[in-house]
Amino acid sequence: MATPQIKLSSGYEMPQVGFGLWKVDNPIAADVVYNAIKAGYRLFDGACEWHTDYGNEVECGQGVARAIKEGLVKREELFIVSKLWNTFHNGERVQPIVKKQLADWGIDYFDLYLIHFPVALEYVDPSVRYPPGWQYEGDEIRPSKATIQETWTAMESLVDAGLSKSIGVSNFQGQLLYDLLRYAKIRPATLQIEHHPYLVQQELLNLCKHEGIAVTAYSSFGPASFREFNMEHAVKLTPLMEDQTIQSIADKHSKAPSQVLLRWATQRGLAVIPKSSREPTMLSNLNCTDFDLSDDEIKTISGLDRGIRFNQPSNYFPTELLWIFA
Ligand SMILES: NC(=O)c1ccc[n+]([C@@H]2O[C@H](COP(=O)([O-])OP(=O)(O)OC[C@H]3O[C@@H](n4cnc5c(N)ncnc54)[C@H](OP(=O)(O)O)[C@@H]3O)[C@@H](O)[C@H]2O)c1
Repeated sequence: MATPQIKLSSGYEMPQVGFGLWKVDNPIAADVVYNAIKAGYRLFDGACEWHTDYGNEVECGQGVARAIKEGLVKREELFIVSKLWNTFHNGERVQPIVKKQLADWGIDYFDLYLIHFPVALEYVDPSVRYPPGWQYEGDEIRPSKATIQETWTAMESLVDAGLSKSIGVSNFQGQLLYDLLRYAKIRPATLQIEHHPYLVQQELLNLCKHEGIAVTAYSSFGPASFREFNMEHAVKLTPLMEDQTIQSIADKHSKAPSQVLLRWATQRGLAVIPKSSREPTMLSNLNCTDFDLSDDEIKTISGLDRGIRFNQPSNYFPTELLWIFA
């Protein structure tokens, strides 16, 4: 079944099911991307991201290049997403880093480019350290003075320069979206947020619907992605795929619990970007839109909400200086 598309306010269409690239290890990233394209994925969600020691945009680009070279896809059939890291928020830093990320991918435009987090940190030159991560030096978190307005104006220049077709934001909440919408000449096409049954954020979803901003859910499997960091609450919670409610709904539809979790999001209009390095799993994740949950089932799953957020700085490292979601 073809992946449904979501029409963005920029006029472009975005596949509703895509592939997440966070924690896809460098040695396998090119093959994983190539295999995902072969399996039918067209959207890839990347970032200038720190994991272990390296980012993986170079290797992901190699996977894309191989698929294009072998005639599996054309560039224009892919939807490649990347993100602006916190240390590049100053207006004059935005275009140069986007050009570097495009060069890493081996492409000449992104389909969508997002502000990764609404926090500006001091610039770190890519020749000194790349990806730069959260800390300036040692444990030090050093803010920069860039406002979101300055950063967004530079993001808008990417569209004018043909470096990204659409632009958007990630990890923003309502207050900041309202502010951004006051001065945006180009409205954010998407908001990417942590979203799973333990963190539903219904009011934020309502706001986005009202404002015509498409929402992409990340970490759709909740704690699954965060157990490897030994986060206490991720380890203690029942994995969503083992939750009785999810399992019994999955049994009823003869689907996997993971597919139910993804369908709960897509049926409510969100896009999803599950990550799996395993081929059978990536295929099962992609095939998550060919059945429908009942309204009651959707309500029951939404009722599991506990307001539990995993992806925030204080869960990764001790910090008394960074409370993005306060
Ligand atoms: N904007 C942001 O700040 C932000 C933050 C986090 C994530 N993201 C994006 O969202 C993407 C997805 O989020 P995520 O990577 O955190 O987590 P996720 O997709 O919710 O979960 C990934 C974890 O679940 C496992 N898994 C995947 N499919 C499975 C299935 N069908 N059955 C059993 N286990 C399964 C994977 O293991 P295997 O690989 O071994 O299958 C991996 O450990 C990321 O890759 C990234 O692109 C964005």
